[in-house]
Amino acid sequence: MQKQKQRLWLPPGPRKLPIIGNLHQIGAVPHQSFAEMSKKHGPVMLVHPGFVPKLIVSSADAAKELLKAHELDSCGRPPLTGAGELSYNYLNVAFTAYGDYWRVMRRLYVIELLSIKRVQSFRFIREEEVEFLIKSISEFSKLGTPVNLSEKLISLTADVTGRVAFGKSFKEREYEYFGADFEEEIHEAVVMLGNFAAADFFPYCGWIVDRITGLHRRLERNFKKLDAFFQKVLDDHLCSGRRITEEEHEDIIDVLIKIGKYETASGTEKITHNHIKAILMDIFLGGSHTTAISMAWAMAELAKNPRVIKKAQEEIRNSAVVKENWRLQPPGTLLAAREAITRFNVSGYTIDPKTQIQVNVWAIWRDPNAWENPQEFYPERFLDSPIDFKGQNYEFLPFGSGRRICTGVHKAVAVVELTLANLLYCFAWKLPEGMTEEDICMEEEAGIAVQKKVPLKLIPVEYQCSSESKMYKVAVYLYLNAKHHITCKDINITTVRRILERVFA
Ligand code: HEM
Repeated sequence: MQKQKQRLWLPPGPRKLPIIGNLHQIGAVPHQSFAEMSKKHGPVMLVHPGFVPKLIVSSADAAKELLKAHELDSCGRPPLTGAGELSYNYLNVAFTAYGDYWRVMRRLYVIELLSIKRVQSFRFIREEEVEFLIKSISEFSKLGTPVNLSEKLISLTADVTGRVAFGKSFKEREYEYFGADFEEEIHEAVVMLGNFAAADFFPYCGWIVDRITGLHRRLERNFKKLDAFFQKVLDDHLCSGRRITEEEHEDIIDVLIKIGKYETASGTEKITHNHIKAILMDIFLGGSHTTAISMAWAMAELAKNPRVIKKAQEEIRNSAVVKENWRLQPPGTLLAAREAITRFNVSGYTIDPKTQIQVNVWAIWRDPNAWENPQEFYPERFLDSPIDFKGQNYEFLPFGSGRRICTGVHKAVAVVELTLANLLYCFAWKLPEGMTEEDICMEEEAGIAVQKKVPLKLIPVEYQCSSESKMYKVAVYLYLNAKHHITCKDINITTVRRILERVFA
């Protein structure tokens, strides 16, 4: 046994201190600390926050080896404290260990809840909510005052997700009361999932530290608030007398309740209320904030780059802007933590089972070996380029890769593209009085999804051109994208016609 251990060639990494390991070297924004460390120790590096070894992968080649050659070996998820608390003890898909349960639940997502067909069927929701957003921004345009775009985009995605998940937006009477509070709790959960909990790195005694620091209490409070809300929407669905009218449409809770009635998804695992609430947690934590955050970054990058914004508005080629934004500011800077299932090698180094693994995509996308002028926001690099986000281009993995790739890609792309197209074609954007492009703060706030530390505020200026030509531009954009964009299949000539009909009515 001793002999076998000596033959292992573990990845290099920073020297660790007794007990705390490398914790003192990991700053408030961990992907930046890891990027700095890997400049010295290489793209396959082992760090030790506390007692737990964590593999950090920071090059496209090593990511390819890990996520392609060792796809199955590396697709576990570590049982982290925050993830367990917020997922009803790992009943969701995102945080659950690899195995039969994950397989059944993921199939449910892919086939029933987030399929292209289902995303298409919710098109009217996206369109109505984006229209509402544009109208509310127009009010600021009339007054000539800055609009807090970060806030508006968070409300937009919460409303879209709410209507998809439980049939109501937060603007509606039943849930209006929860609105801002709920968005705050989702924000809190996203931040806490990115926090280091002592229990995760000091297996036997860390929980005591978490109680002293208050992290445990914060997590419990956050979970209780979210749980109370999810229970309320579930109860509303279960109350007798609920009928799905033609206008109401079947939402995700309806689908889950229906499946639950037919026993279980697998035949072995019953769909309980906790399963349904864990799925809602996935959809809100994984899908609502990430999408809003990524649009706020895109608008900030565009506001900093008048050349690009003008080009995007003139040429109707937004999908390149969306990709470039996901390259420079990925919401998941460190892909969601994986766990090694077996022992395997990456770049010749031995990775032991149970090692936590994180791919630092933020570092890969700033790597001059992978990208020319990586720091520059230059959407043209994606024009006529075969690189997409389906997890096969290892220098660009905004949604991850392999069997644990994001289940919400279609939903995210549909919302982001439609919203950005409307924001760009309905308004010109000005900086608030006395501000220059350099003053736009691009500082990051850590979390499972990394967001702008300072909310983005811009002044919308409605175009003088007629609303017909504005809408026509959006319609043409959507139509062009339907032809050229593989993931936006739901946008077709009928949508274009519908928009045009509405405009000319
Ligand atoms: C811009 C928006 C989004 C981004 C950037 C994003 C990114 C990611 C990433 C990086 C992962 C980890 C993949 C890996 O481990 O290889 C992931 C997983 C996941 N995402 Fe997303 N996501 C987004 C939107 C959504 C939406 C809209 C939903 C659902 C409505 C969603 C649900 C999930 C789930 C359930 C997983 C876990 C999959 C598994 O472990 O099997 N995401 N996402």
